[in-house]
Amino acid sequence: MANTTQSAKDRVVIFDTTLRDGEQCPGATMTLDEKLAVAELLDGMGVDIIEAGFPIASNGDFEAVSEIARRTKRATVAGLARAIPADIARAGEAVRHAERGRIHTFVSTSAIHLAHQMRKTQDEVIEIILKTVAQARDLVEDVEWSAMDATRTDIDYLCRCVEAAIRSGATTINLPDTVGYATPQEYGAMFRQVRERVPNADKAIFSVHCHNDLGLAVANSLAGLEGGARQIECTVNGIGERAGNAALEEIVMAIRTRADVMPYDTGIDSTMLTRASKLVSHAANFPVQYNKAIVGRNAFAHESGIHQDGMLKHSETYEIMTPASVGLAKTSLVMGKHSGRAAFKSKLGELGISLSDNQFQDVFERFKALADRKKHVYDEDIEALVDEKRATAHD
Ligand code: KIV
Ligand code: ZN
Repeated sequence: MANTTQSAKDRVVIFDTTLRDGEQCPGATMTLDEKLAVAELLDGMGVDIIEAGFPIASNGDFEAVSEIARRTKRATVAGLARAIPADIARAGEAVRHAERGRIHTFVSTSAIHLAHQMRKTQDEVIEIILKTVAQARDLVEDVEWSAMDATRTDIDYLCRCVEAAIRSGATTINLPDTVGYATPQEYGAMFRQVRERVPNADKAIFSVHCHNDLGLAVANSLAGLEGGARQIECTVNGIGERAGNAALEEIVMAIRTRADVMPYDTGIDSTMLTRASKLVSHAANFPVQYNKAIVGRNAFAHESGIHQDGMLKHSETYEIMTPASVGLAKTSLVMGKHSGRAAFKSKLGELGISLSDNQFQDVFERFKALADRKKHVYDEDIEALVDEKRATAHD
């Protein structure tokens, strides 16, 4: 079962919302079979909570959440619900057959959302929180409550809302940076303040949920841990609304690689990250940017001659993680105009080609000339250069 007590201070609960917030990314709609495959992989890699969808949103979403709830044996399965009785009832029905089911209910708390979207007073929203969290808690033991737009909410009011949600039975409190507005320093401070000021704060686990509008989602999530949060909400490949959500693979590898300054454990088998990235990219029909941290095609590729030379001497010269640790077969030394002799020699070795010193010198010069003209120099190009040289060779 997901660890849901604040006392297990070094265990960070991973709450994956690829199938809910991730699917809200334009064009990322997945079929039921695709969702089942993603959920199975997430469960297998050690995700603690799978947010499988928003059951009231459509019959398809309801069916996906119910089916994932039925099939998942290890992870907790969550269904999202607005602070509306019909939503909560539908979410409760969808997770009813789960080994471990969670209702995740949310309401906006910022002044701008209250005035323009909810058209409710602060006191009215507190009443809604008390009623809807209690309704959810009647249906399941595990209730998460989120303060939508928490980072733009007046802190005194946010504390009142959190206190009410916990009093009504919420076991996890999520304080999202819904619009990706916070800085790491502010986000960490918000958790510190709320946890200090809310009298019953120790009865719930606190959660981060960050959007990437300013490219700060992962940094903010990690800052939230410093402020005392112990659940991270994230998506594979960082897919999600607008600029996306905090990327699961980046969080997991940041925590793992910098354990010296972040003494947490996520329980994720990081060797499955590359597979998860490929599966989600395919299912959501959403390509991964080449330079994406951890899972981008260039994340373990080196082209500069200086870097390639260093890598051939010792991999830690330019790599802070091994490709194997994220489930990638190997580092790639990309042959291009920046490549030097050492990398070129190593590439020839890889291709099973051995040349005399003179031949090597000549083929290397031709390779450099070709690399100046061509964006990509493939193995076949190098083999052609060697064949050409051999065909005209007198040495
Ligand atoms: O970004 C957000 O505030 C959300 C909530 C529904 C948790 O996705
Ligand atoms: Zn979100």
